[in-house]
Amino acid sequence: MDVLCSRFIEVEHPDEVSELVTEGVFQSPFFILGGGSNILFTKDFAGVVVHPAFKGIEILEESQNETVIKVAAGEEWETLQQYCLERQLYGLENLIGIPGNVGSAPVQNIGAYGTEVKDCIETVEGWRLDTNAPFRFPNAECRFGYRDSVFKNELKNKCLITHVTFRLSKIERYNLKYKALADELQNRQWSPSLKNVTDCILHVRNSKLPDITRIGCAGSFFKNPLIPQQQYEQLKQEFPDLVSYPAPDGMVKLAAGQLIEKAGWKGRRLGDAGVYDKQALVIVNYGGATPEEILSVCDAVIRDVEAMFHVHIAPEVNIL
Ligand code: EPU
Repeated sequence: MDVLCSRFIEVEHPDEVSELVTEGVFQSPFFILGGGSNILFTKDFAGVVVHPAFKGIEILEESQNETVIKVAAGEEWETLQQYCLERQLYGLENLIGIPGNVGSAPVQNIGAYGTEVKDCIETVEGWRLDTNAPFRFPNAECRFGYRDSVFKNELKNKCLITHVTFRLSKIERYNLKYKALADELQNRQWSPSLKNVTDCILHVRNSKLPDITRIGCAGSFFKNPLIPQQQYEQLKQEFPDLVSYPAPDGMVKLAAGQLIEKAGWKGRRLGDAGVYDKQALVIVNYGGATPEEILSVCDAVIRDVEAMFHVHIAPEVNIL
């Protein structure tokens, strides 16, 4: 379904952001749109959509072991991945295949196959929309967490990210903790190299996630839930095969995909919307799904998981 906004502004240069603040653009409802791959528009947006379109990758520092690059927010994540592949820069390779723009990556601290983007971020820079001044946050000030950062919390709607600076390694090293990735390399009898690791990741991704050029989806529709250790111990008695990962502050992270599958939703459809049959975290649009159909699937999944496990799963997708 097509949706409209009141005004769409493509920002061609970071300096224009200050002019937009002065113009008062950010005083009425607005939304900063990167690549749009993690957004579900359910209706027309009665406000201004601002799209940072500026490009550029600049080397700030280069030593024998590391390269520090500053990347403009409007660059596609895939362009950055290609840049790293061509120059043999290590650190971001497990995040290959993720759609979207560089400016959005720190907001939700994108992650896959045992790597989170925060592992390579040095600083995040941009413009404060409340004070009309520049900001430059070192990694620690971004308060990165699982699919989380200061930009989704205290600074929500207060910042426009213009650049992300990454510290990447020139020394060959890989993160092969994710079992399916290590298994894939092993099965092919491939030794790790940037090309081999990224090929295997793309293969694992494609085996679980839909090709968004053919089947509409926004990646994981839900976040993996964090629950207290005590609740986990109780659940584990009832569901001994429960997948879990340790999380900070005495919490345990569960695999929402497994909960959704156990609740009977994997591969199930309501009209043209449904839960993907190869990865239950993903809600897909089989063609003409209306926003209501997508939201009905979302609500029903949340309800059934809650009924079965007493665990609340929250959407990861931004629903507007
Ligand atoms: N699982 C099931 N059934 C399913 C899906 C998963 O039982 O339908 C189980 C798996 O067997 C596994 C566990 O759940 O034991 C975890 O599954 P998986 O490794 O596929 O990862 P995930 O936790 O479901 C997360 C990210 C993905 C990322 C993968 C790989 C979130 C919300 N999602 O999914 O990110 O690609 O790990 O690292 O954290 C995205 O954010 O859009 C995204 C696709």
